[in-house]
Amino acid sequence: MVSLSHVYKTYVSGQHVLKNLQLEVANGEFVFLMGPSGAGKTTLFKIMTGFEKVSSGHVKINDYDLSSLSSRNMAYFRRSIGVVFQDFKLLYDRSVFENVALPLYILKKNKWEVIESVDRILRKVGLSKKSDENPAHLSGGEKQRVAIARALVHDPMLLIADEPTGNLDWRLSNEIMELFSQANSKGTTMIIATHDQGVVERNKSKRLFQIEAGQIFESGGQQPCGQFFKPLKEAGLNIL
Ligand SMILES: Nc1ncnc2c1ncn2[C@@H]1O[C@H](COP(=O)(O)OP(=O)(O)O)[C@@H](O)[C@H]1O
Ligand SMILES: [Mg+2]
Repeated sequence: MVSLSHVYKTYVSGQHVLKNLQLEVANGEFVFLMGPSGAGKTTLFKIMTGFEKVSSGHVKINDYDLSSLSSRNMAYFRRSIGVVFQDFKLLYDRSVFENVALPLYILKKNKWEVIESVDRILRKVGLSKKSDENPAHLSGGEKQRVAIARALVHDPMLLIADEPTGNLDWRLSNEIMELFSQANSKGTTMIIATHDQGVVERNKSKRLFQIEAGQIFESGGQQPCGQFFKPLKEAGLNIL
């Protein structure tokens, strides 16, 4: 379960990016997050992955309270999730195979498990032939698929993906969405930020949230997110 309550984020620049944000996602759900550029999607994802601290509020993901996690427990938490960063964060001093294998090395999987799992996921993202390449030599769409493979290779309990189909054409984007659906049906909770209206329209059965003015709303009318929702005017926007 992902639970954010009363989350505020103000950067040192003084910009108030998230304001009393509330979000609840149950285990096994598949949700999309949309919002204009600069709305705070990446900030929210950095908070959910422990790369940014909240200014105030609580973030709980399964048994981990990210607001007060020791660095040791943060490392354990990160092992249990998969993250596709908007800027990929690939390691350019090693091959595609080694990039994708990283979560399995950290989990101390044996050599044969590593080879089997990495080969399987590279096949699924259509990059088997690029296994020995340095990711620096790949196109933007190929790098993005390496990042997706690395995020899914260890069957994480939660996948957080920031615009994961941003560099992919229509066909590849559909294939990646199919891969996400398969992972979701095997139990991975999915939270995916996207700008791609087409992706959302082709996946109408999924929950859709809009991030706007630092808050998050469930799409489809008046349904704001989570039980803690308060209308904007009551939400204490003038606190910050
Ligand atoms: N490290 C940072 N320091 C200061 N401001 C930041 C930082 N990261 C993001 N911002 C600002 O926060 C706002 C939200 O950014 P971001 O979370 O990247 O939005 P999105 O992913 O929705 O485009 C933007 O106005 C951006 O300039
Ligand atoms: Mg972003």
